Amino acid sequence: MTNTNPQITIRRATPKDASILAALGAATFTETFGHLYPPEDLQTFLVGSHSVGAWTHTLEDAQRAVWVATLADGAPIGFIVVGVCKLPIEQFSRAGEPSAGEVQQLYVLAQYHNLRLGSRLMDLGLEWLEAQDRTPLYIGVWSENFGAQRFYGRYGFKKVGEYGFPVGGTVDREFILKR
Ligand SMILES: CC(C)(COP(=O)(O)OP(=O)(O)OC[C@H]1O[C@@H](n2cnc3c(N)ncnc32)[C@H](O)[C@@H]1OP(=O)(O)O)[C@@H](O)C(=O)NCCC(=O)NCCS
Repeated sequence: MTNTNPQITIRRATPKDASILAALGAATFTETFGHLYPPEDLQTFLVGSHSVGAWTHTLEDAQRAVWVATLADGAPIGFIVVGVCKLPIEQFSRAGEPSAGEVQQLYVLAQYHNLRLGSRLMDLGLEWLEAQDRTPLYIGVWSENFGAQRFYGRYGFKKVGEYGFPVGGTVDREFILKR
């Protein structure tokens, strides 16, 4: 870790942030998981999920909320996306849970890990989900992302199922956590 005490601000993101979040989303996903996929699968995923168009759609969606963390010079270093649950939860919640919410994405650039930034973003996201009466809450996490599983475990999320998350032609084994 090279940054022990940077000045970091967290603010709610708007559609004007689509390009900075597309760049940050692609950078953090590639940094965390890029080595797991053939380059063409990674590229397919980034084009689909971290294009400016995809982020504009996310940021304009009233059922989602996004916060972005920036340095003093405005450079973005982390973000969280929360909203209505889009995970395949029908498989184990047959009664239906129309008010279910989800922590959809939580990423901080590796250089800024372990500064409690992830926790600050998580607290804002959970507060918003609670204010929207979203309950229960779900998170999808890669089966081998042990650091993130520990992180979410501290917030009371527990594994309730699994599903396959497509990244291009690769299908990842993902755990579904619930609180
Ligand atoms: C998960 C993440 C957002 C936490 O952000 P952070 O600012 O480092 O978190 P905090 O400082 O508040 O808390 C530190 C905790 O984060 C988790 N963590 C640390 N490094 C991690 C890593 N490389 N990947 C995943 N989780 C990690 C650990 O639980 C750590 O606590 P520990 O001391 O018990 O290991 C951040 O590590 C990250 O962006 N990881 C890569 C992307 C990712 O895995 N996102 C989750 C996808 S589901």
